Amino acid sequence: MLQMSRGDKFLMSSPKQPPKLGATLLLLALLLLCDGVTTVHCSTVHENNVDLHALLDFKRGITNDPYRALSNWSNNTHFCRWNGVNCTTARPFRVSSLNLTDLYLQGQIASSLGNLTFLTQLDLSNNRFFGTLPTLNRLQQLEFLYLNNNNLVGTIPDMFSNCSSLSDLDLSRNLLEGVIPPTLGILSNLTYIDFRSNQLVGTIPDELGRLPRLRSLMLGENRLSGEFPHGILNLSTSLQYLSLEYNMLGKALPRNIGDHLPNLIVIYLGGNMFDGHIPASLGNASGLEFVDLSNNNFTGKIPTSFGKLLNLTILLLERNQLEARDNRDWEFLNALGNCRSLNELILSRNQLQGSIPRSIGNLSPSLEILYLFGNNLSGQVPHSIGKLGALIYLVLGRNNLGGPIEGWIRNLKGLQVLNLQSNRFTGSIPSSIGKLSKLINLSLGENEFEGLIPWNFGNLQKLQYLNLSHNNLQGDIIEIGNLKNLAILDLQSNRFAGPIHPLLAILLS
Ligand SMILES: *[C@@H]1O[C@H](CO)[C@@H](O)[C@H](O)[C@H]1NC(C)=O
Ligand SMILES: *[C@@H]1O[C@H](CO)[C@@H](O)[C@H](O)[C@H]1NC(C)=O
Ligand SMILES: *[C@@H]1O[C@H](CO)[C@@H](O)[C@H](O)[C@H]1NC(C)=O
Ligand SMILES: *[C@@H]1O[C@H](CO)[C@@H](O)[C@H](O)[C@H]1NC(C)=O
Ligand SMILES: *[C@@H]1O[C@H](CO)[C@@H](O)[C@H](O)[C@H]1NC(C)=O
Ligand SMILES: *[C@@H]1O[C@H](CO)[C@@H](O)[C@H](O)[C@H]1NC(C)=O
Ligand SMILES: *[C@@H]1O[C@H](CO)[C@@H](O)[C@H](O)[C@H]1NC(C)=O
Ligand SMILES: *[C@@H]1O[C@H](CO)[C@@H](O)[C@H](O)[C@H]1NC(C)=O
Ligand SMILES: *[C@@H]1O[C@H](CO)[C@@H](O)[C@H](O)[C@H]1NC(C)=O
Ligand SMILES: *[C@@H]1O[C@H](CO)[C@@H](O)[C@H](O)[C@H]1NC(C)=O
Ligand SMILES: *[C@@H]1O[C@H](CO)[C@@H](O)[C@H](O)[C@H]1NC(C)=O
Ligand SMILES: *[C@@H]1O[C@H](CO)[C@@H](O)[C@H](O)[C@H]1NC(C)=O
Repeated sequence: MLQMSRGDKFLMSSPKQPPKLGATLLLLALLLLCDGVTTVHCSTVHENNVDLHALLDFKRGITNDPYRALSNWSNNTHFCRWNGVNCTTARPFRVSSLNLTDLYLQGQIASSLGNLTFLTQLDLSNNRFFGTLPTLNRLQQLEFLYLNNNNLVGTIPDMFSNCSSLSDLDLSRNLLEGVIPPTLGILSNLTYIDFRSNQLVGTIPDELGRLPRLRSLMLGENRLSGEFPHGILNLSTSLQYLSLEYNMLGKALPRNIGDHLPNLIVIYLGGNMFDGHIPASLGNASGLEFVDLSNNNFTGKIPTSFGKLLNLTILLLERNQLEARDNRDWEFLNALGNCRSLNELILSRNQLQGSIPRSIGNLSPSLEILYLFGNNLSGQVPHSIGKLGALIYLVLGRNNLGGPIEGWIRNLKGLQVLNLQSNRFTGSIPSSIGKLSKLINLSLGENEFEGLIPWNFGNLQKLQYLNLSHNNLQGDIIEIGNLKNLAILDLQSNRFAGPIHPLLAILLS
């Protein structure tokens, strides 16, 4: 869902001036490492003992290598040809990148990697490294550091102060604790910081606002507290991706957030304790595509300015205290009609009242997910909702909606989930539902439906969950017996009669 640009450029480092190697050391290396070949033409010379030792030391730290990824890390061949290792293109052939991603490697990351002073890229992501972060503070050329998705513990030390070339720093999905070091604010080339899914605490340092190139700040799923970090409002030209979701951040958002961060594409603030109004200025960040403000304590109206976001794709506002009491409060829905890329709109569990406006039918024809669950909606569902022909999820449960559903249901042929549970819908279940052949989950319970189960219900061959409980349905339930994928069925509190299909008898037993 979230597309992140992680370091567009992975350049080989340009050849640098070689540090002077002791002649003795060089000779020793030549002698030791020529693969049994006795002539000076040997091309697999380990010209740099420091790097060799660092790599061998790193290898010793690895206790499990199920794919035998390091099996050709031996003295027989030059380390520049070892799996995952790349070197500078000119002598002295120092290690410029080490990439051992996705190999189920287990062990500690040896601090000897801190001796690979020509390293520009280090990617040990998606492994099972444990222990603390290695000391890398001499790697002045390091640009890309990916240690994400391991089991690393301890704090993020002030170890990067020397890594002035660092551009991408991904430590996400580990078990790191402690605070975010403010000293990161001096690494002026940082464009991507990803610490998501750790156990970091404390406030978000304002110093991060000094990183003129910072494009992505990803700090979601930690235990960060305090207010929205005002310092990052200084990142006005650079910041595009902001993820602070599922922390313990609170208070109101800065009113002018959208004016200060006009280039935002993603803003994820869900699962915090933010309160106050949703700033209308978000509508000025005109490139916004993904907005998650769900699971907070926002109050007041939903701003109509969301309608200025022509690329808006996902808008998640569920579980807040947002209100709509009259037509004016509902104007945001008309405005959202401008967002022709809108794919997912979730407004569940707020305090939206009154009828669903007819303008719901003017939402993007590519809308696939619409949740209005758990509000206080009343009246009939406007027929115009039938224009949303791309809908896959339509969830209107737990409201006070009423009237028959015949008029609008038949066009929604792509529906996989239809939840009308706990409303006041009346009339019969229309046979057009039997034509919604992609349905997997159909919840019509706790309404006032009456009459027979439609004759063509057996067509719903993908149906796995069916809830018709607490209605006034009658007749037989033979058709339901033909639903081969049904796993959960609730028919209680109706007026059904007649024979129970053998298959159903098993299901009900
Ligand atoms: C490789 O060479 C180094 C010396 O450069 C030595 O310390 C190490 O034991 C050797 N490793 C193997 C597996 O031969
Ligand atoms: C070591 O393994 C890697 C990956 O299989 C391979 O690309 C490389 O050529 C091997 N090196 C040698 C010296 O065999
Ligand atoms: C090493 O460099 C070559 C050429 O630039 C590149 O194709 C390869 O992917 C790199 N390998 C690693 C492990 O970075
Ligand atoms: C490491 O290699 C993988 C493919 O094996 C690649 O997707 C990834 O981008 C590389 N990492 C870096 C930092 O280049
Ligand atoms: C780094 O290299 C130096 C020699 O240049 C060596 O003395 C030291 O032990 C190495 N450090 C680690 C952590 O391997
Ligand atoms: C920074 O790197 C230089 C050169 O490698 C080193 O001498 C110095 O100790 C490093 N500083 C820190 C704070 O690690
Ligand atoms: C920062 O990045 C720019 C452009 O990629 C580069 O020219 C510059 O040398 C880098 N600065 C440092 C301190 O590495
Ligand atoms: C943000 O910019 C303002 C004005 O330029 C400056 O006073 C403030 O110190 C900056 N904040 C940070 C954290 O850089
Ligand atoms: C930002 O949005 C607000 C509210 O929608 C509006 O009043 C203001 O004029 C906008 N500012 C700019 C610079 O567009
Ligand atoms: C919307 O997305 C398109 C396609 O990615 C892009 O060209 C356009 O600049 C975006 N619009 C805004 C306002 O960012
Ligand atoms: C949400 O705000 C209300 C007052 O508007 C307050 O009573 C409640 O404790 C807040 N909830 C949280 C989780 O902050
Ligand atoms: C639901 O809305 C009705 C008006 O449509 C109102 O009378 C009632 O108090 C609301 N209920 C809640 C729980 O807000």
